[in-house]
Amino acid sequence: MIFRQLFDSVSGTYSYLIASRAGAEALLIDPVLDKVDRYITLLQELDLRLVKAVDTHLHADHVTGLGALRDRTRCITVMGEQSKADVVSMRLCDGDRLEIEGVSLDVIYTPGHTDDSYSFVMPDRVFTGDTLLIRGTGRTDFQNGDPRQQYESIFGRLLCLPESTLVYPAHDYKGDTVSTIGEEKRNNPRLQVASVDDYVHLMNNLNLPNPKMMDVAVPANTHIGLHQEIVAARGWALSPEQAMALLRAEEAVLVDLREPRERERHGRIPGALHCPYPMLGEELGRGGSLRELARRCRLVFFCAYGERSAMAVQAAQDVGLTAALHIEGGIAAWKNAEGPIERA
Ligand code: FE2
Repeated sequence: MIFRQLFDSVSGTYSYLIASRAGAEALLIDPVLDKVDRYITLLQELDLRLVKAVDTHLHADHVTGLGALRDRTRCITVMGEQSKADVVSMRLCDGDRLEIEGVSLDVIYTPGHTDDSYSFVMPDRVFTGDTLLIRGTGRTDFQNGDPRQQYESIFGRLLCLPESTLVYPAHDYKGDTVSTIGEEKRNNPRLQVASVDDYVHLMNNLNLPNPKMMDVAVPANTHIGLHQEIVAARGWALSPEQAMALLRAEEAVLVDLREPRERERHGRIPGALHCPYPMLGEELGRGGSLRELARRCRLVFFCAYGERSAMAVQAAQDVGLTAALHIEGGIAAWKNAEGPIERA
């Protein structure tokens, strides 16, 4: 496995680059906007293809690199389903799996620091965001934080992992880089409490100042969606109703870019082909099945919210498939328009 812990000294943020091997797909957890150039250079140096950029929660102390990474690498942006971000390409829930080629992370919902906080578990390590820090825990006094929920997330979920599990948090301000579940159980001062009420009392009396960047970071991190109106202005977007009319006239083939789990959870559009977004380059390339199909009919891409499909239209245009379109707003908009859905 390729694993890099990257540090932003301005905000004390750790970001994590994960891939199974050189030449493979890569994942970035909690990237920082100011470091995006560095990530892109590192990805090139290590011969990796970024396919997903994930935030553990909506950050208040730095501006996320999610939007910039998507715009520069066409990767998928990922957050939890509770996130207040306007649009991300994919939303996760408790029990999901976050997957790239050769790497799979279990997704656990760990609210408390914020109401959209998630942790990601691999067999030997856990990425805890700001839920569990090294000898600390994330504050619970803003962004719908809740010390009672955080106690449950920590004691009921994270501390149930094997004691040898490595703990990789989203921040450290003292110079520590990694810990273990056992080490935190024994030595984290916030966790030496007798009851949930003790923990709530402790967290409610920290009296911390707001993060310096909060007034900038929260609004910026709430508006990270791809500007789908730019794609629409080029004439490449369809409303769900327009897409339904094209389908009735048998003038188009729908291509679902979502992952199998998203299709299971949110349903499928009858008759749509399936091409998970990371496969798109191959399928649109010379000899690819979508490229062949595009000779005979019009491709209409869709995904969860319209981000992957907007990028797919651009990718199709780039290889000369100028008739390709996408459904603006994705399956979420399709459902709002009462388009037909079938369950897997
Ligand atoms: Fe945070």
